[in-house]
Amino acid sequence: MRKEIQLRRQSFIKQMSTNSAAIFFAAPEAVRSNDTHYPYRQNSDFWYLTHFNEPEAALVLIKERQEQVTTILFNRKKDTQAEIWTGYRLGQQAALNEIQVDASYDFAEIMTVLPTLLSGKSILYHAPEQYTYADQIIEKVITTLCQNNEQTYDPPKTIIDWQPILHKMRMIKSAKEIAIMREAGKISASAHKRAMQACQPGLYEYQLEAEILHEFAIHGARYPSYNTIVGGGNNACILHYDTNSDRLKEGDLVLIDAGCEYRYYAGDITRTFPINGKFTQAQRDIYNIVLDAQNYAIKHLVVGSTIKAVNEHVIRIMLQGLKKLNIVQGELEQLIQDKAYLPFYMHGLGHWLGIDVHDVGSRDTVLEAGMVLTVEPGLYINKEANVPSQYQGIGIRIEDNILITEKGNELLTSDAPKDPDEIERLMSKKSN
Ligand code: GLY
Ligand code: MN
Ligand code: MN
Repeated sequence: MRKEIQLRRQSFIKQMSTNSAAIFFAAPEAVRSNDTHYPYRQNSDFWYLTHFNEPEAALVLIKERQEQVTTILFNRKKDTQAEIWTGYRLGQQAALNEIQVDASYDFAEIMTVLPTLLSGKSILYHAPEQYTYADQIIEKVITTLCQNNEQTYDPPKTIIDWQPILHKMRMIKSAKEIAIMREAGKISASAHKRAMQACQPGLYEYQLEAEILHEFAIHGARYPSYNTIVGGGNNACILHYDTNSDRLKEGDLVLIDAGCEYRYYAGDITRTFPINGKFTQAQRDIYNIVLDAQNYAIKHLVVGSTIKAVNEHVIRIMLQGLKKLNIVQGELEQLIQDKAYLPFYMHGLGHWLGIDVHDVGSRDTVLEAGMVLTVEPGLYINKEANVPSQYQGIGIRIEDNILITEKGNELLTSDAPKDPDEIERLMSKKSN
């Protein structure tokens, strides 16, 4: 991966002006309670450019001229006592080769070293509002440069947000990133299969969550890429439900939205299935509308299309289906114009996927080979909805991950069954 990181930096540097500097900060540690922390997760942009997973770090790229570039890392210094308690620190010496930088300084010295590095540069590339601590460092450094009376200190005149540049790069995945995302898709799919086979009425939602997390962890993905959603019955109609504390009831569906984070890349799958292993006719009716919509979308999300354009037809499929079941009434074009789908389908068709589960990039971007996105239509009919009673309390989402290729797309999550008959067959083979 070292070569790849060099290529990423080179690509970014090419887009910097001459006589400029760019700075990228590591994520701070997050306190969970008192003196314990959440497991550390590096900032995605910083990870993309360094593959360095320690806090208290910053990467600085200095571009004097086209061919004259210096790469500097600020990171924690080695500390025998601290390392006995909290683990290994890379330190300055090892960073040179490991992180491929020209120089490495103790992070504690950033306020003394950074003004010298930035002085005389006409542009500073910095992403504001990512972290308060980072903004404070930049503000203090600029103030120092402005207040210093020595002629030699000269602050950058312009600050440019580097996010549009770097995020555009992150949208196109390399062969190595794709290989990792295929694995993230496989592990995530395997967890969904495990949950289907473990499911039975009377279990608690968190017990299915435990099956999912177990499957992730034993395959080397210790953490989910977002909080796992296990919603039985009407809980499936709460889009970001992650309380996961209710009992699963005979006759209800359960919606599981779960994806692992594997080597810093996200999977994001949703499957909805009957808790007792058999769909009712009403559940199948709604399920098949969502499945038809998803199949259509997967077929049409190809080079040159946009999520927005494909979603317009998905909405049409949803409304045609709901009309057939007498859940909405009226003329189709009028229903589309009135946005009659919104009470039942209130989120987007999909989002970019990568180092972040909701990965960077603009939603309206025209699809290109190498982009990875989710396809996740859903219908949510709350138990209070004014619809035929057999459809009340049914929430269904089907979510897969696709890679856009030159020829069409590749389904990264095909191991998780979604055909209702196939789901029933798998569920009939219970795990022990
Ligand atoms: N699990 C979050 C999403 O599907 O977007
Ligand atoms: Mn999801
Ligand atoms: Mn998603």
